[in-house]
Amino acid sequence: MQITFAPTIPEDIDVALVSLVPGQEQSFVQIKDAGQKVLSIGIKEPDKINRRKFILLARQVIALARTHRVSKIAFEFSDFTFPKLRMTDEDKAEVIATNITMANFEFIKYKTEPKEGWSFVEEVTVVTNKAAKIKKAFEKGHIIGKEVNASRALATNPGGEMTPEILAAEAKKAVEGLNVKVEILGEKEMKKLGMGGVLGVGQGSDAESQFIILEYMNGKKSEKPLVLVGKGVTFDTGGLNVKPGDFMYEMHMDMSGGAAVIHTVAAAAKLKLKKNVVALVPAVENMPSGSSYHPGDVLRSMSGKTIEVINTDAEGRVILSDALTYAEKYNPRLVADVATLTGAAVVALGTRASAIFTRDEKLETLLRKLGEESGDYVWPLPMWEEYEEEIKGTFGDVANTGKTRYGGAIDGATFLQQFAQNLTSWVHIDIAPRMTTIEGEFLAKGSAGAPVRLLLRLLETY
Ligand code: BES
Ligand code: ZN
Ligand code: ZN
Repeated sequence: MQITFAPTIPEDIDVALVSLVPGQEQSFVQIKDAGQKVLSIGIKEPDKINRRKFILLARQVIALARTHRVSKIAFEFSDFTFPKLRMTDEDKAEVIATNITMANFEFIKYKTEPKEGWSFVEEVTVVTNKAAKIKKAFEKGHIIGKEVNASRALATNPGGEMTPEILAAEAKKAVEGLNVKVEILGEKEMKKLGMGGVLGVGQGSDAESQFIILEYMNGKKSEKPLVLVGKGVTFDTGGLNVKPGDFMYEMHMDMSGGAAVIHTVAAAAKLKLKKNVVALVPAVENMPSGSSYHPGDVLRSMSGKTIEVINTDAEGRVILSDALTYAEKYNPRLVADVATLTGAAVVALGTRASAIFTRDEKLETLLRKLGEESGDYVWPLPMWEEYEEEIKGTFGDVANTGKTRYGGAIDGATFLQQFAQNLTSWVHIDIAPRMTTIEGEFLAKGSAGAPVRLLLRLLETY
């Protein structure tokens, strides 16, 4: 999709005009005398448009165009004006660009093109005579939207076509030609580092485990980096504690956290952020086989702490433990880990917000604000010391599941906290609730691309 600008509405009949009509109940299509299509989106209650609804509205523009199979559209930037919406023009421009881009994405890689062709919007003309600042904001939003989509494509790719090595190759591809250093560790290197967690989980798979490192150092030399850690389980069968029936189906997206941090770094580099950023992705396939790790195994993590494996399906925290320890070598200002960690987070929050866990109250407040701004909504759950009782091991230092079936998302976070104790500031983001898109958000089925938008804002502002 291309975004261009014009001072007046194009007369070209191939270009459909999308107009937002306040007070009108429904959306409809009109054909003008000259043959030009006008797609009207009714906005029943314009004074109820807030930031959240604004995001959906931008997507709706594309959704409507796609349903009517129009590939070239124009809209007036000034249409996006609402009485109670407190957003600057630049802010609006960025949000519109990101969200029209996200709404124009669909995972069609393995589908045959229908006779009538795909229905994507190819050209968007924004009618505005506003300053270069607005255009810049559109361009920025477009870059962000494209990286969110790239993260969605990577995460949605089937598990049979996604091994740790393929994920590593995709990470390289994502930052090709950018100012990002890539390093990939294989099992041999991980053994040297003592990464018993990653190696333990990956040992049941024929595919070699990988540890992906991306470094984008564009800040002051003296500035400590921000480290993003992403769970890279390319397929989660559960291992020997194999997942039952339906529960395994979407587990090709269990590397969504990894995909998100990879494409956040790519976006940061494309936007030339003046920051030092590192992404770490421990990548494994969690499989049941004769060489799998067993329930009851005790793994020695890179930190020296031993992990008692109660359930091989709680694998994400086990691989992340080594990544958190590895992060220490950067002496980071902040570490954020992103993982489709627990079904319990989905039970707790539903599918509209990721769960955040941190003992840094300022960071918690900041993330809630940035979540609201970006559209990657987050909500905090407790990180109290008392929960540590739940994950005390019997034969190892920490157990990889809690003692009861309650509060599983917190148990997961508390486990990770044991490996984050040497870090200055740390947050765990359980994105299981936002792994896939949901009905009514005007996004195609599959990975939702969370929380690329949030992480970018975090990098920008922190
Ligand atoms: N990848 C899953 C969590 C998940 C479930 C993500 C559904 C997205 C949607 C994770 O590895 C897992 O299996 N967690 C277990 C932990 C349990 C064994 C303590 C879970 O949530 O059931
Ligand atoms: Zn699992
Ligand atoms: Zn998992």
